[in-house]
Amino acid sequence: MFETIAALGHEQVVLCSDRGAAYRAVIALHSTRRGPAVGGTRLLAYPSDDLALLDALRLSRAMSYKSALAGLPFGGGKAVILRPGGPFDRAELLRAHGRAVESLGGRFVTAEDVGVSAADLEHVRLETRHVAGLPSGAGDPAPFTAKGVLRALEAAAAWRWGTSSLAGRRIALQGCGAVGAQLARALHALGARLIVADPDATRLAAVTAETGAEAVAPDEIRGVPADVFAPCALGGVLDDAGVAALRATLVVGAANNQLLEPRHADELARRDILYVPDYVANAGGVLSGAMDLLGLARDEVERRIDAIGETVTRVLERARAQSVTPAEAADRLAEERLAQA
Ligand code: NAI
Repeated sequence: MFETIAALGHEQVVLCSDRGAAYRAVIALHSTRRGPAVGGTRLLAYPSDDLALLDALRLSRAMSYKSALAGLPFGGGKAVILRPGGPFDRAELLRAHGRAVESLGGRFVTAEDVGVSAADLEHVRLETRHVAGLPSGAGDPAPFTAKGVLRALEAAAAWRWGTSSLAGRRIALQGCGAVGAQLARALHALGARLIVADPDATRLAAVTAETGAEAVAPDEIRGVPADVFAPCALGGVLDDAGVAALRATLVVGAANNQLLEPRHADELARRDILYVPDYVANAGGVLSGAMDLLGLARDEVERRIDAIGETVTRVLERARAQSVTPAEAADRLAEERLAQA
């Protein structure tokens, strides 16, 4: 365990428990060099405690890199609550989490993530003020995240095809959730042709009805012939099978930790598929949190989200100049910024 933590460069990992509330969680603080470790709280059933720890470690490091590249004075953290197997009191569980966050005295500031809604955060807020993304503040980050992914996609299109226009492009979108549905709407408005998948039939139907998208089964979406594959579901989709299945030229999406392992970035490059690092493309969410945490005006946040396209271009230029993958170039840039802090 300590070797894993040291290899990823974390400052601190906290294991939290409250038996009365059926609460078990991992809070991973990757870095507080640039500011408080900011990152969402995920509530999920994990096959093992080790996998929960690994998820928290990988996600929190990505948060450090994301904030560094987005120019925010934040470090990176992430909390993972292990979803209890039996029935549980959701409000009590979230309040127990609030107490754990409070015990860190502001070194960790949290928000929503998979399995945790803005409404859930109201319970966390009863125990700690170190929360962003409440309905009363910046609220749901998904529209901001979707806008940033769109800017990243346009920049990657311009790099690859010489035009940022997405009109007529075929886009395979995995996941019609909070971000995926917003992104689908925006792409449809720009004239893109959508192919979508989601195991949730209601969400899928909402997106196909609104955008005229073609629906395919979740296990087919990665192999759909398309110009762009946009992963907006869970992480790890770019594994051996996923990379081999791809029939797209660009991969740009919102999901965190899209690459199962760093070597999958090399596999993508070998197949001449341009991959925009996930934490560069999906920084809109953490940028929206800056409205609550830094008091930034909405206009300023929108401007910084528009600038995600320029960050993508800078990363791609670096990758070309240094003969490395975009993933490696982004990691190096983020590590330089952390070292300077
Ligand atoms: P969400 O939970 O609202 O949506 C995820 C969707 O993916 C759900 O509709 C789910 O049914 C679907 N899904 C699950 N497995 C699938 C599969 N095998 N194939 C197709 N669809 C599948 O989550 P949200 O908020 O839209 O986030 C999506 C991703 O983006 C997550 O990885 C999240 O960590 C990441 N992200 C989200 C941000 C936000 O602002 N919400 C910010 C940054 C990253």
